[in-house]
Amino acid sequence: MSTESEWKRKDLVGIEELSREELEIIYTKAEEFKATLNRKQKKLPTLRGQTVVNLFMEPSTRTRLAFEVAATRLSADVLTVSGNASSLVKGESLRDTAKNIEALSADIIIMRHSAAGSARYLSRQIDIPVINAGDGAHEHPTQALLDTFTLREKLGKDLTGKKVTILGDILFSRVARSNIWALRKLGAEVTLAGPSTLVPEAFKHFGVKVIHDLKTALADADAVMLLRIQHERQSSTHFPSLGEYTSMFGLNEKREGWLKKDAIIMHPGPINRGVELDSKLADSGRSVILEQVTNGIVVRMAVLYLCASYAANLR
Ligand code: CP
Repeated sequence: MSTESEWKRKDLVGIEELSREELEIIYTKAEEFKATLNRKQKKLPTLRGQTVVNLFMEPSTRTRLAFEVAATRLSADVLTVSGNASSLVKGESLRDTAKNIEALSADIIIMRHSAAGSARYLSRQIDIPVINAGDGAHEHPTQALLDTFTLREKLGKDLTGKKVTILGDILFSRVARSNIWALRKLGAEVTLAGPSTLVPEAFKHFGVKVIHDLKTALADADAVMLLRIQHERQSSTHFPSLGEYTSMFGLNEKREGWLKKDAIIMHPGPINRGVELDSKLADSGRSVILEQVTNGIVVRMAVLYLCASYAANLR
């Protein structure tokens, strides 16, 4: 079993480059932190005196707040900069913005950006840790970590052979890409489902199944992960209308009957209720959506702890 002393990364840019052992280190640390969540005194002194900067150039509710809660629980000071309130809108480069944040004595930058590759680029420009909170349609590593952490809680720690169907807009989804990497490394069987325009056959190169018939895609799934349509990344229409998408691929009460009786429903949020997921199902006993959100705190605590500890050893 790998131990946290074997963590050798200052940054978390993507799941693609992580080994299964590194994933296990994060889950183990997150489990430790989860055991502290319900304590009366929730704060741990781990990052006392350190400053964490949330640099978010795209909207976010869950990721930004979960990182803020995680860093606060570790006793860090947290500052949040929104893209439209920063000097980026005056033409400053991302590198200069980050260099200035570093010069202001920040210890960690958490960044969400619309450009794929921006987190990796930044991690090479500055010495402090960079944590990717979503870069374009490329990766959203902490989302996949919280999703797989939740799956391990629900289906058992060994996900080998477990069947996960990801349904929706795969083409434009960083959540899908990060989850495919994580689930394949953990030995799960992944099926991608949705319209062929949003779920191209080319995804088979990831070692997954691509199925356009919803009933078949749902039939033996242990978990179904719904994704919303990412309008903000689409420059053209990939299906006639939202109504037609819902009629073909929306998960509703009738189609729930196609699921195994103990299959769980997941969604990274934000949900478009009544489009990709029926509102009653989102709030049903099958749904683990809010547990995903809560687990987002502890996996982010684990990531902050591991990257900050490694960076401190480099100084
Ligand atoms: N899942 C997710 O990334 O949600 P936010 O956009 O609200 O952060």
